[in-house]
Amino acid sequence: MSENKVPTPHIAAKEGEIAETILLPGDPLRAKYIADHFLTDVTQFNATRNMFGYTGTYKGKRVSAMGTGMGCPSIGIYSYELIHFYGCKNLIRIGTAGAMRPEVKVRDMVFGMGACTTSNYVKQFRLPGDYSCVCSYELLEKAVTAAKERGIPYHVGNILSSDMFYNPDLPQMGTSWDRMGVLAVEMESAALYSNAAYGGANALCILTISDSLVTGEVTTAEERQNTFTGMMEVALELA
Ligand code: HPA
Repeated sequence: MSENKVPTPHIAAKEGEIAETILLPGDPLRAKYIADHFLTDVTQFNATRNMFGYTGTYKGKRVSAMGTGMGCPSIGIYSYELIHFYGCKNLIRIGTAGAMRPEVKVRDMVFGMGACTTSNYVKQFRLPGDYSCVCSYELLEKAVTAAKERGIPYHVGNILSSDMFYNPDLPQMGTSWDRMGVLAVEMESAALYSNAAYGGANALCILTISDSLVTGEVTTAEERQNTFTGMMEVALELA
């Protein structure tokens, strides 16, 4: 299954302790929330760097959840180890994003069909051109079905994985990426999608909109928790 020995430098799990399908919130406490509220028969497989990881059962299926930290380098490390050393096949990022287009409202769900990026992460695969970071169509189709069944408003399209949260050019970025139809900005998906492609795994990024670069609106912590719960349910259906 794995190409190297486990545990890895960043994940303490033994071989077989992580499920083939794993939910990846940025915040490790969200992984704990998923384990506490949605999973049964839970075991914790990681606490290295407080990046908590758990495996349990959801509707009879084995599923894991682990934090990734923020940004392409951090999710790049964890997703690489999960794919290459632990044999993970379906990696589903669940996170928040800022809306870049007027039709994308706060609290909406966005499925990242493709991920543009300002990061150099993907360039380091040394391809002789620009690589298109795309999600797994199979996971996307299942996620859209789950969102429809729950009546959750959703958008499917391109997103931007930015290296900077506090970007001095943010207003201009809003207009330039918006012009190209990019729906929302976050910080991790390009690394996840390119790592999944390189490792022959499936990946999908599911986002809820926490703030809008268009209107300046932000959600409260309580609202974020509620919208996060809907997103977790959609993601868990992919197990
Ligand atoms: N920028 C980058 N990442 C984000 C944002 C944002 O505005 N909102 C939520 N995640």
